Amino acid sequence: MQVNSVQIKNATAIVTGASSGIGLAFASLLAQKGYNLLLIARNINKLNDLAKTLSTQYDTQCNVLSIDLSEENASKKVLEYIITNNLNISVLINNAGFSGNYKFLEADWSQLSKELNVMSIAVTELCYLIAPLMEKNSWGRIINVSSGAAYLPPTQSLLYTGLKSYVLNFSQSLDMELKPKGINVTALCPGFTRSEFHNTMGTNKQVSKVPNFLWQAPDQVALEGWHAVMKGHPVCIPGLINKIIISTSRHLPLNLQYNLGKLMNPFK
Ligand SMILES: NC(=O)c1ccc[n+]([C@@H]2O[C@H](COP(=O)([O-])OP(=O)(O)OC[C@H]3O[C@@H](n4cnc5c(N)ncnc54)[C@H](OP(=O)(O)O)[C@@H]3O)[C@@H](O)[C@H]2O)c1
Repeated sequence: MQVNSVQIKNATAIVTGASSGIGLAFASLLAQKGYNLLLIARNINKLNDLAKTLSTQYDTQCNVLSIDLSEENASKKVLEYIITNNLNISVLINNAGFSGNYKFLEADWSQLSKELNVMSIAVTELCYLIAPLMEKNSWGRIINVSSGAAYLPPTQSLLYTGLKSYVLNFSQSLDMELKPKGINVTALCPGFTRSEFHNTMGTNKQVSKVPNFLWQAPDQVALEGWHAVMKGHPVCIPGLINKIIISTSRHLPLNLQYNLGKLMNPFK
């Protein structure tokens, strides 16, 4: 088995949100690299189909766990599964995520808390529970999927930009603490990526106006993220165009950033 420069017996990679988009691309990439997989999402049929394809194609061992990461104790159930099945975890891809498309006071609290739980609590708790398993091998790689939105002016997509900013900052701090233990942490900040994301958010119509050159394929995003974490980069902004947009917008005066954010209204 080829697990880069480090040989860890039966190394397993966890991928959350593996049933589509960027998570599915990570699962395929890591299977190709020789990792066994623990695939996590809610849609068990999609996970089973993916597991079947990858185990046939790459002779990799695929475990599937259907779990709603917004539920209390979801991360603890992931740990229980790992212990029960004696999995040797060396990679964690915290990728599951979505954006709600509603106004704050018009949203049900259950909608808002789902977003908070999946993209902050579950991301944080999985790092907390899984990193000690990597520490035992003095080797681990963690990618937390943030977004280019974490760098851009806050828009009216409510919780999303704030949550992704949290993931970006949390990941960098965690990298500082864990790198001396052999565990690299990278915040992956994609721009527009072809996936189910906008379908779920209900913004297909709005993003159909986004020019083609601004979009990336999920495979490309996953590959750039993987190279970044292997090189020990705490942040990865995939795609040259995204790097240019983010570095330019960060230098704008704060007032202008705020007003630009207001223009990017997903409810229009
Ligand atoms: N696409 C973009 O333009 C873009 C840009 C920047 C950042 N991102 C980020 O990239 C990540 C992946 O998104 P994507 O673009 O690949 O979108 P996607 O195709 O919609 O995939 C989202 C994944 O998250 C899983 N998921 C959602 N809610 C979940 C829950 N409660 N419990 C468990 N799994 C859940 C979904 O699986 P189930 O429905 O089966 O549970 C699915 O596998 C997200 O964190 C997103 O914020 C996307």
